[in-house]
Amino acid sequence: MRISEIIIKKRDGGVLTNEEIQFFVNGYTNGRIPDYQASALLMAIYFQGLNEEETYQLTRAMRDSGDVADLSSIEGIKVDKHSTGGVGDKTTLIVGPLAAACGVPVAKMSGRGLGFTGGTVDKMESIPGFKTTLEEKEFFELVNKNGLSVIGQTGSIAPADKKIYAPRDVTGTVENLSLITASIMSKKLASGSDAIVLDVKCGDGAFMETAEKAEQLGSMMAEIGNADGKKTVAVITDMNQPLGRAVGNSLEVIEAIETLKGNGPSDITELSVKLAGIMIYVGGRAATPEEGTEKAQQALESGAALVKLRAFIAGQGGDTGVIDDYSLFKDHVYEVHVTSPVSGFVEKLKAKQVGLASQHAGAGRASKEDEIDMSAGIYLSKKAGDAVAAGELLATVYGNDEEKVNTAAKELQEAYIIGENTPEKQPLIHKVIGL
Ligand code: URA
Repeated sequence: MRISEIIIKKRDGGVLTNEEIQFFVNGYTNGRIPDYQASALLMAIYFQGLNEEETYQLTRAMRDSGDVADLSSIEGIKVDKHSTGGVGDKTTLIVGPLAAACGVPVAKMSGRGLGFTGGTVDKMESIPGFKTTLEEKEFFELVNKNGLSVIGQTGSIAPADKKIYAPRDVTGTVENLSLITASIMSKKLASGSDAIVLDVKCGDGAFMETAEKAEQLGSMMAEIGNADGKKTVAVITDMNQPLGRAVGNSLEVIEAIETLKGNGPSDITELSVKLAGIMIYVGGRAATPEEGTEKAQQALESGAALVKLRAFIAGQGGDTGVIDDYSLFKDHVYEVHVTSPVSGFVEKLKAKQVGLASQHAGAGRASKEDEIDMSAGIYLSKKAGDAVAAGELLATVYGNDEEKVNTAAKELQEAYIIGENTPEKQPLIHKVIGL
């Protein structure tokens, strides 16, 4: 088999066989196929597409390029949750304890990635002492004991994805639904859970800007997961403004704790309870998704989920004192207030612009070598629909580098569109696929 023939076949609209897909994935992962040929094939795929079977075979080949975790020593139906990423998305920190409190084991491997803030494991590391690297045995024991553990994804999970993502990132071939599906689902399927709940975000702060595109991606990922024998549900959710009020690593952990104490913003509380309800249902702990939602709501109101969060933090060596005393988080040196120049209503709060301001304040990585400033970020005092008077506080930027904080504050000011009208309220959940 020759890679040049595979490239030509796809360039001319042909359908690749399983063997051809495996030849590409294995050959490129172990260095036999050079970057220029991989890039040419990716561009051919970008224009000609992959059908459902090719997408499934690509996902499987990428999944099998490394270790496939065996979670069978963890009792019960293990349920994973994945978000395609947004601004202020701290739902995993809330949904994990809610699901665990209702008897659903959550054994999560999470990537660090690039973005507006760190990933879930970065956020957890803002808790003094919290370890995200554990021996496999310890990881399994913690899930059996506490119902929840989250560790950093190792390089042995779907190494083909890392390899293939690099040329995609620099050749304009990221935005292809089959390639995105294979990238995300290969890692999810290799992480070993029995069921997967995907939170596919749509809006200006999300990877998929329109609900239609997000639905297409959600359907494709759900089909691939289900074809692989994992119950997979995709929930299409809004990301036209940040979720909750906090954007940044320790700021988001604090907001997640507040939510589990019952004091969270309504959007983050509603979404977390709904996602946890679906996890509880697919995890076999509720007869219907509605019953799952009720159970999640009870776990929130009774404080059972907060107890789980405490056990989760303690299990991974973190200081549980942070739950009651937020001053134990590393503090920031600088804070800058952003105020409204005029009176009116927040007509729009541009999620992407908020996310970039947060990254520029130091909360996220632009490249994988960047260090994250755990205490940097943004607190949004006003969100879309809120009334505001001239000179009133809109938001605060925190960080440890004065210049970065000032730059971020200027960017944040531009994220607010203040006008005379209240915006139409967007639904938080657009659609649930695969239930
Ligand atoms: N996230 C991933 O993990 N992979 C993609 O291709 C896009 C987003």
